[in-house]
Amino acid sequence: MSKRLYFNEVVTRDGFQIESNFIPTENKVALIDALSTCGFAKIEVTSFTSPKAIPMLRDAEIVMGQITRHPDVVYTVLVPNLRGAERALDVNADELNLVMSTSETHNRANLRMARDDSFAALREVIGFVDGRRPITVSLSTCFGCPMEGDVPAATVADWAWRFADLGVQGLTICDTTGMAHPAQVQRLTELLAQRVSTVPLTLHFHNTRGMGLANVLAAAQSGIERFDGSLGGLGGCPYAPGASGNICSEDTINMLSLMGFETGIDIVKLLTVARTLPHIVGHDVPGQLIKAGLVTDCHPAPVQG
Ligand code: COA
Ligand code: ZN
Repeated sequence: MSKRLYFNEVVTRDGFQIESNFIPTENKVALIDALSTCGFAKIEVTSFTSPKAIPMLRDAEIVMGQITRHPDVVYTVLVPNLRGAERALDVNADELNLVMSTSETHNRANLRMARDDSFAALREVIGFVDGRRPITVSLSTCFGCPMEGDVPAATVADWAWRFADLGVQGLTICDTTGMAHPAQVQRLTELLAQRVSTVPLTLHFHNTRGMGLANVLAAAQSGIERFDGSLGGLGGCPYAPGASGNICSEDTINMLSLMGFETGIDIVKLLTVARTLPHIVGHDVPGQLIKAGLVTDCHPAPVQG
């Protein structure tokens, strides 16, 4: 039996948050509705952050109110603090994805707090939600920080364990600026499997140094079943210097399904949606498959002279 993998599409959150031109609300809603029919287990719709910090996602409530929810998709949202959690509950988000960084410097840049203060604030959020919704936590810079450099695996495991101990339903291990390499991915996922064995792990890679797909493969071969990806390979944290796009969903899903993994995704449908993306954002996107097509798309032989 082929191994089942689960994908969370983050293009309208991580993908759009770094774009410079505001994407109209109706285009976000139409894109999410199209993605909802492709077979994703989860879609990270938006974030309930300060509109001054992330102006692109200032329409979070309207987007959540206007999308058509597919019964098989979990609609999750990024939440940085208590105010964000209240907003997410008000619009009936299926899941709240809290966020903090494993690097002190990046946490201060992104969330304007020390890590210990973030942990205390998020523990309060978990208490406030009180089981009304599942909670996951995204841990940023787990494979390195663009300002501090190395982030020790033991530090990542400690933060993961502290949230696991609070009873969260999932942990997302993020390579915020594409610093991971496959051997490191294997080592960290093995360590986390020992330290937080009761909590499902999702891996979140960026392709900043061209190792995104290699890192996904290393994680999948180490037993990871859940991945974040962004349509067209858009994305990046505005508060991490040098950040660039996430791994491209359609390129990743294409690779894994060719290798025999069961992804649940209709790749033809997904590719059709991906091809609308350059029109939505107004520029070319990094994904390869939208340019090259599927391996089954055969070209006519050149006419012999
Ligand atoms: N939703 C809406 N507004 C919020 C908010 C939220 N979740 N949290 C804070 N605000 C508003 C406050 O009301 C205040 O508004 P005002 O200036 O009009 O009074 C302003 O933001 C500042 O609030 P404060 O509590 O001092 O927060 P801060 O300035 O320290 O910002 C964060 C903290 C985390 C809210 C902010 O830095 C943020 O949203 N960062 C985005 C992180 C992110 O998404 N990064 C990319 C993904 S990893
Ligand atoms: Zn990211």
